[in-house]
Parts: sequence; C-alpha cells; structure tokens
Amino acid sequence: MAKFRTLDDVDVKGKRVLLRVDLNVPMESGKVTDLTRIERVAPTITEIADKGGKVILLAHFGRPKGRDPKESLKPVTAAVSQVIGRPVGFADDCIGDVAEKAVAAMKDGDILCLENTRFHKEEEKNDPAFVAALASLGDVWVNDAFSAAHRAHASTEGLGHKLPAIAGRTMQAELEALDKALGAPKKPVIAIVGGAKVSSKLDLLENLVQKVDALVIGGGMANTFLHAQGIGIGKSLAEKDLAATALRILDKAEKANCAIILPVDAVVAFHFEANAPSHAYGLDAIPSDGMILDVGPLSIERINSAIDDAATLVWNGPVGAFELNPFDRGTMAAAKHAAARTKAKRLVSVAGGGDTVAALNAAKVANDFTYVSTAGGAFLEWMEGKPLPGVEVLRR
Ligand code: 3PG
Ligand code: MG
Repeated sequence: MAKFRTLDDVDVKGKRVLLRVDLNVPMESGKVTDLTRIERVAPTITEIADKGGKVILLAHFGRPKGRDPKESLKPVTAAVSQVIGRPVGFADDCIGDVAEKAVAAMKDGDILCLENTRFHKEEEKNDPAFVAALASLGDVWVNDAFSAAHRAHASTEGLGHKLPAIAGRTMQAELEALDKALGAPKKPVIAIVGGAKVSSKLDLLENLVQKVDALVIGGGMANTFLHAQGIGIGKSLAEKDLAATALRILDKAEKANCAIILPVDAVVAFHFEANAPSHAYGLDAIPSDGMILDVGPLSIERINSAIDDAATLVWNGPVGAFELNPFDRGTMAAAKHAAARTKAKRLVSVAGGGDTVAALNAAKVANDFTYVSTAGGAFLEWMEGKPLPGVEVLRR
C-alpha cells in the first residue's frame, strides 16, 4: 500500500491542527440519533489534544444552499463534547474574522469546531481563495474523514496541497482495512453486492468481477439478472432495459473466472409490506403476480457455503428487502454466518454502506466483522476501484 503520513510522523505540540472529520450524522429534532461517526473520530481528536495540539474541527453537515441555521454544526458540536467528555468551542463561521479570533484565543490542547464548511459555496468548488482562507487558520491538515474522501472539496482535498497532509487515526484504520479486503487480500475473495438497482452499481459490478473469485448478487438487482436469463420474475422490481448489460457482466465474469452466485430460489409475496404472507418458490415457479422480496432457503445455504470457501469477504448492500420483516432473513443469515466465520478466524470481513451497516447492526454482528465502514458513497467508489481525491492527496 502507498505510504501515508500519520500522527506518528508529526509533532503537533503547539500547532494549530485543522482536523477534517465527518460530522454528517443523522439528526432528529435537534438531537443526534446515531453517534457512530463521532465515536470513530473521537480518538484522533483526543490524541491531538493530549499531545498539546490545538484541534480545529472542520466538517460539513447536510447539503445546504448557503447559510442555513437548520444545518448548523452547533448541535453536533455538543454531541462531540459529550462523546469525548471535554469542552468543545464553536465558531459561527469557518473562515474570516469570527474563525480567526476563535482560533487565536485557543490554548494548547483546546478543541474548537468551526461552522459547516458548506455554508460557503466555494467549499464544494474547491475554490483556491477559500482554501487559502481555511489554510491560514492552521499549521497542519489532518484528514480523518474517509467517508467524505470521494469529494474533491476545499476541506477534504484542497487543504492537502497547502499544508502538510496527514492521515488521522480513523482514516489510517480504514485504509488498512480496505487494503486487506481488496488491495492485497488473502484469497479466495468473495463479494456480496445487493440493493435495489443494477443501474446504481454498474461500475461496482464491472470492477468486482475482475478482482474477486466469487460474486454474490442479491436484492432487487438480482431480479434484473434473472430476468435477463429468461426467468419469469412476476411483478418483481427489476430494470428490464438493463438485460443486455446484465448479460455482458455475466460474460465478463466468466472470462475473468469469477463465479457469479445468483439466487436459486426466492421468497415471494403479493404486497410490498411488512409481514405480507409469503412463500419460497423455485425459480421455475415464481407466480406471475408475485414479487421477489428475499432470497430463499436454498440460496441462503449456497451463499453461506460460498462464504465458507472464502478467506476474504467484502460486502455492500442487503440481499433482500431487509427493512421489511420477515424479508430480512437472507441478509441476517449471511451476516450471522460471516460474523461466525470471522470470529473463528477463518475470514477477513469488511462491509460498508448505510443499509449494510444498518443490517449488520440489526443482526447484532457489526462488532464481529473485521471492519465496518461508516462510509456510503466513498465506500462504493472505493469498491468501484476509483481513486478518492481525499485519499490521493495524502499519498507521499
Ligand atoms: C456522507 O454522509 O456520505 C458523507 O458525509 C458525504 O456527504 P455528501 O454525500 O453530502 O457529500
Ligand atoms: Mg451521501
């Protein structure tokens, strides 16, 4: 793996450290409802503070068009303070007078959060004058926001060209885990890809068939592949116009010696709702007015035995409509099986993406996986084999 400078390579004592974190956390009525992302960056914050650095947090929240009090980082700052158990200051702007005064007043070991970087449209444009204004507030830039690293924005990428660029502890852990999964993995490698649409994961499938030994395709996107193979899928969700694309991917997989594992049976219901009456059917008997909502029991056995054959697993996307009971069974079964194999030291397992993390949490196995990424878009782009600007800028 290419080398990155880490917090072991820099003396932060007395320095103003611009620390890019991902504080884009779920919120309801002014309260943070999931602290995971904050908990992930907490060790980096306290390490820099304990070493005598001045920690200046930079982050975005939501996708505001200009300044919008509803997307202020102020309530998130309170949650950060609560998680790390120390006071965290707040400045109403991330550049200019307000920010400069707040930074100038900091003592070694202090922690300050600057307001949402996206309140300035120049952030997303990676505007040089805006980058310079941010850079003037710090002596080094530490990027601990892997989950925002697919954005070439001022605070996620631009600063790395202006200040010494360092990977934070969470970024470091993420890059090491991802390298173990697809960079230099122990073979054989299996990937599980699910979710509703083939169209949103075309690049992902194309990249994976070149890299992995087996690819499980589940969720709504499996229906598109089954349909392309001439299997009747009733009223199931599918992108029938992508049949030719699906066949091309299957062909590519065959040439690359990647075994494609599609469902061999399916759980079918007649309404898309929780607890709708359902049955498992063979693929030759899917009712014409039914909808495939999960993989069937034979498919679960197949997926689990394919996991048994693998040394490394990378997972993005549930294999059924996991948000609806009982159509979470396939996803839960595979999650539990992969967790057990990991605990038995037979498997390196890496998973990412919002739905996947939610499914692993629901199965209570997130802690048993080797690594669970909190990144959504960034994890997907990494799995697609695309360079992430916020990571590339850290390479030395
Ligand atoms: C995320 O929540 O996935 C990251 O913080 C990136 O947010 P964005 O998709 O609005 O750039
Ligand atoms: Mg996103």
